[in-house]
Amino acid sequence: MNVLFSFKQVQTFLTILVMMIFSFSDASADTSSLLIKDLGEGHCLVHINTNQRYLLLPVEEVIPDVRVSMIVNNKEVNVADVRLAVNRVDYFVPLDLSDYAGKNILLKFKLGSNDPIRGKLSAVCCKEMKLSDTFDTGNREKFRPTYHFSPLYGWMNDPNGMVYKDGEYHLFYQHNPYGSKWGNMHWGHAISKDLINWEHRPDAITPDALGTIFSGSAVVDTDNTAGFGAGAIVAIYTQNSDRQVQSIAYSTDNGRSFTKYENNPVLTSDARDFRDPKVFWHKETQRWIMLLAVGQEMQIFSSSNLKDWAFESSFGEGQGAHGGVWECPDLFELPVDGTNEKKWVLLCNLNPGGPFGGSATQYFVGTFNGKEFVNESPSQTKWMDWGKDHYAAVTWSDAPDNRRIAIAWMSNWQYANDVPTSQYRSPNSVPRDLSLFTVDGETYLQSAPSPELLKLRDISKKRSFKVNGTRTIKDMIAGNEGAYEIELTIENQYADVIGFRLYNDKGEEVDMQYDMKEKKFSMDRRKSGDVGFNENFPMLTWTAIESGKDELKLRLFVDKSSVEAFVDGGRFVMTNQVFPSEPYTHIDFYSKGGAYKVDSFVIYKLKK
Ligand code: FRU
Repeated sequence: MNVLFSFKQVQTFLTILVMMIFSFSDASADTSSLLIKDLGEGHCLVHINTNQRYLLLPVEEVIPDVRVSMIVNNKEVNVADVRLAVNRVDYFVPLDLSDYAGKNILLKFKLGSNDPIRGKLSAVCCKEMKLSDTFDTGNREKFRPTYHFSPLYGWMNDPNGMVYKDGEYHLFYQHNPYGSKWGNMHWGHAISKDLINWEHRPDAITPDALGTIFSGSAVVDTDNTAGFGAGAIVAIYTQNSDRQVQSIAYSTDNGRSFTKYENNPVLTSDARDFRDPKVFWHKETQRWIMLLAVGQEMQIFSSSNLKDWAFESSFGEGQGAHGGVWECPDLFELPVDGTNEKKWVLLCNLNPGGPFGGSATQYFVGTFNGKEFVNESPSQTKWMDWGKDHYAAVTWSDAPDNRRIAIAWMSNWQYANDVPTSQYRSPNSVPRDLSLFTVDGETYLQSAPSPELLKLRDISKKRSFKVNGTRTIKDMIAGNEGAYEIELTIENQYADVIGFRLYNDKGEEVDMQYDMKEKKFSMDRRKSGDVGFNENFPMLTWTAIESGKDELKLRLFVDKSSVEAFVDGGRFVMTNQVFPSEPYTHIDFYSKGGAYKVDSFVIYKLKK
């Protein structure tokens, strides 16, 4: 007998072996089968028949996406772009099969590599994909924040559809459930009663034949104007494919499930960038108002039923910053502190063109009559946050007690896809309560940390001291794991620079300074830890501060991978990500050109 097998025979034998291993690899699912066929030139077909919930797809982050098409009964029931692993597995993502239990499911994809040895079945994904009833979302990330919202897994960008109803805050968000880079946009979903503790829900709105699900808003249709039911939550969102169109979906079970409106889309245009609808009820004119980001302007539409929309006006030409495309608008009315007056605020996120490059949030203050927004200070550009990581900021609809609560995505399009996490990417900012204040006749937006954040405070330590030179406090608080708040009240005594440096034993630091001469507050993250993943990350950000104040008040929210500074109750805010290899546990206070007094330095450990 000839014991020498040809290469082809060995290959066939190995292929059969691999198929057998896949077919019988999970003892708990005896009826499950997973069979991968090599169709040549990278084309693969996977036959699945299972009662198990997920197919776990292995992802390799650095390689290009592959379009995976899921077919049941000859119909394409799902399409996802996945970086299917060829050389190594960085992490897995779950493909939910539960709707097709016991049916024959086909997956079709073409791996990028045409190399006969490395391509196709020898690609790691073909060996590693597996059926499972569970998907492990246990945290594997050292940079995952303790008290900021982050997705359980996968990519997140803009907060979407924020609405409050029946004691619950809903937070939807741009989610890629098939990888930790941008793509496959779905609306992820989480619910909270206190803006701090979030219950993760399944994705609420998933892509369909009209496109992926881009940003948008949600309202409570109390009077049943749309006919979906009184009190229905109606989500209004952009669908992205070759063009961008606006669609709606409704929920009559407090956001637990959504039904897409059968006559979507409800608004179209020949403009290329036509997205991010923000809808609210305008009491005075008894109509719904929609703001849409269109190129570098905001367009305003009105409707009586959320389905038929009429163009009213556009805003933007010659106003504010235009370094990039305008995105994610919001429009709301706020009282002006210390007066009986109210003014309208138009939030306008733009990318690029922020004060320190990339994405940022500008705003305009003025009037709105149901048709037109008029900016009261056309020559001014006003920024809502002076850090690098505050984008797509929008507010909750129907928040209780007339509150106007905003939240932002805490990243920047310049490097969002590169930050050093992998199970998930990018959290949100802490929630902020908005109000208006006036300085020298000019009205500005104040973003104060939401009062719910006080609930996070655990043990604290208070100190007061004078700084003339340097004052070091090692190990600011016991058991510091990198999630804390610092509350500072400083009285200047002729110092030119009032500085403090958070740092760790690795020499990584975030340096903050009030420059009293230049009237600036700055935050320098150039030596904050891992800063090398993108050239736009290392940065010193700064903002002008009000002059003539000898008492300085500051609250700093530090988490595993961020520092948010609220100067003077949120009159100036600075939000920056940082990636230290270990928490900043020490602080140095320093002065230049004179001394200052720290009337109160309180550090609170924060815990959920
Ligand atoms: C802003 C944005 C939106 C768009 C979404 C897509 O970050 O570009 O304009 O709807 O992200 O994910």
